[in-house]
This record gives sequence, structure tokens and C-alpha cells, in this order.
Amino acid sequence: MTAQIIDITRDHDGALAQACAVLGDGLPVAIPTETVYGLAADATNPAAITRIYETKGRPRFNPLICHMSDLAMAERYADFDPISRKLAEAFWPGPLTLILPLKPESGIHALATAGLDTVGIRLPKGFASDLIRAFGKPLAAPSANTSGKVSPTSAAHVADDLGDKLALIIDGGAAPVGVESTIVRVEDGVIRLLRPGGVAVEEIERATGLSVIRPGGPAAIIEAPGMLASHYAPGAAVRLNVDHVETGEVLIRLGSAPVKGMELAAAVFDLSPSGDLAQAAANLFDYLKRADATGAASIAVTPIPDHGLGEAINDRLVRAAAPRE
Ligand code: TXA
Ligand code: MG
Repeated sequence: MTAQIIDITRDHDGALAQACAVLGDGLPVAIPTETVYGLAADATNPAAITRIYETKGRPRFNPLICHMSDLAMAERYADFDPISRKLAEAFWPGPLTLILPLKPESGIHALATAGLDTVGIRLPKGFASDLIRAFGKPLAAPSANTSGKVSPTSAAHVADDLGDKLALIIDGGAAPVGVESTIVRVEDGVIRLLRPGGVAVEEIERATGLSVIRPGGPAAIIEAPGMLASHYAPGAAVRLNVDHVETGEVLIRLGSAPVKGMELAAAVFDLSPSGDLAQAAANLFDYLKRADATGAASIAVTPIPDHGLGEAINDRLVRAAAPRE
């Protein structure tokens, strides 16, 4: 199979109609979202969800985020406490996933939630939202990459990785946020961070007036089963917080300050010359892939500040640099 690719700027309605048809056949479709490209399938159809796990080579104990078109749809499948509702109102549609109690018998299949009594829900923007509304059912969608690899931020990334396993890829251009959604869970009035992502923790604290408990903090119990240590793994080794480049390494740099040895680097990628963390996040996965494609044995990355979107960038970089299983 070779995936058909439809560009939404050329044929938005055709893309919607084709995607609905493929979803209706119980097959996954790769779709653009504002964070990364997703591999979407009918969240109520066990055969369709099984195909997501098979296509990605993803372990089935790792639950999928279910994407909804609006709050009313989300409320049919999950119970909202007041803080989660406030977060939904502040950040949806957008790059925030809420882990919520699943309403039993609501229709989300247990394969999507890996049998948990909770469900991860997100309202995406743009084409993904139009598609859910047109299809009329929630879409389970992990990132559209082989499990353990760097997430895709363009249709070309998806085609390179999974093009021979998919019927359809919808091309919506470069994903503007570039890192996956922030995942939080509210319990007993406490907001816990399960994965840093496209909404900065500081923004969540500002919107709620509450502090967010990070994993490893006193109230944290690790609970996003997908958070395996090695993830986002390029083929090359990754060195973090570098102050110099070894000969033949690829340099990924934030800001425009010179880095010792950079004239002997195999290539240099500037995440954001001005040091803007949102721009850096948008470029991160594409540059990791391009750095890897040079064939260099090692990628050196300069320090990234750990605030705002820097927290998500550092999380992905640490996983990219982790020892491989
Ligand atoms: O931005 C995103 O979140 C993208 C786009 C496509 O929406 N999706 C994405 O999905 O990153 P994925 O499957 O690559 O990551 C989902 C994460 C996993 O770490 C999974 O363990 C966690 O969400 N998750 C899903 N449901 C959960 C639940 N009920 N409880 C705890 N963690 C959950
Ligand atoms: Mg993923």
C-alpha cells in the first residue's frame, strides 16, 4: 500500500470526505493537528483501534488520546470536575490533554484507554476539529510515527515513516506548535503534570491560580503508561547541554551565540536565532530528523532554558538522548 496524500489547501472538502470514508471503513488516517500529526481512527471501533497499535508497533498497555470536536462531545464520554472544566474552557481547542474519569458504557472502546477507568481527551484545532465534527465520533489518535521514534510535524515525515502502511495522509502543512500536548490530571483539587507539552505549565498556573505538581514531586505517582524512558529516538547519539561541538557532529543550537568547534560541525541547525522557545519547539522534531538524516554519529544540542515551552523541549531531548532499550 502507498498512502494517498491530500493537501487541504488544495482540496479541503475532498480531504474531509476521503478521510471520513477511510475512517468509516475502520482504517486509520494520518491527520494534521496543531501539535504533531496524529494517526486517527474511530475511538469506538475496536478493529480500527487495533490497526493504530499495529501500524505504530505500539504496546497496547499505552492508552491513546481521544480527540473531540467540542466540550459537549467530551462531556458525553467523561466526567469533568470544576478545575478540569476551567482548564478546558481556558485551553480548548488547543494543545492540552485532560485525563478524566471515563463514563462507563459511553462508547469509547477499552482498547483506546488500555482498559483504564480514565480517558485522555483533547480538542484539537483546524482540520482535525472539522474532521471529528464531520465524522460525528471521537477519534483516538497517537502521534503518527513508529513507536519510539521522533513524532512527525509534516505530512512528509509521516509518509517517510508510515507511507507504505497507510491508505491516506492529510497534508495540513507544518504543525505550528511542533511538540505534543501537555497532559494533566486533576485529582482531589490538585493538578498533576503527566507530560510537559504545547501549553506551558506557567500558563496553566496563571489560568487556575493553582500550582501544578510535576512528576517526581511529592504528590506525583507516575501514571502516563506511555512515558517510557527512551523515546523520540533518532539513529544518532544525542549529547545535551553542550558548550562545544566535536568534529563531525551535527549542532542544534538555540540563540545565535557562537559555539566552540562549530566550524568543524557536519551541519548546524538553528532552533531559533532569537532564542524564542515557541519557534524552537516548532522546529525541534524536524531538525532532529534532518540532523539524523546527515548520517552523523552524534547530535550536540546547546542548553535550552527550562521555562515555558523549554520544559517540553527539554523533556523530549532527554528522552531522545536516553540509553536505547
Ligand atoms: O499532541 C498530542 O497529544 C498528539 C496529537 C496527535 O494529539 N498525540 C499524542 O499521542 O502525543 P501519544 O499517543 O503519542 O501520547 C499520548 C500519551 C501517552 O503517553 C499515553 O500514555 C498518555 O497520553 N495517556 C493517554 N491516555 C491516558 C490515560 N487515560 N491516563 C494516563 N495517560 C494517558
Ligand atoms: Mg507519541
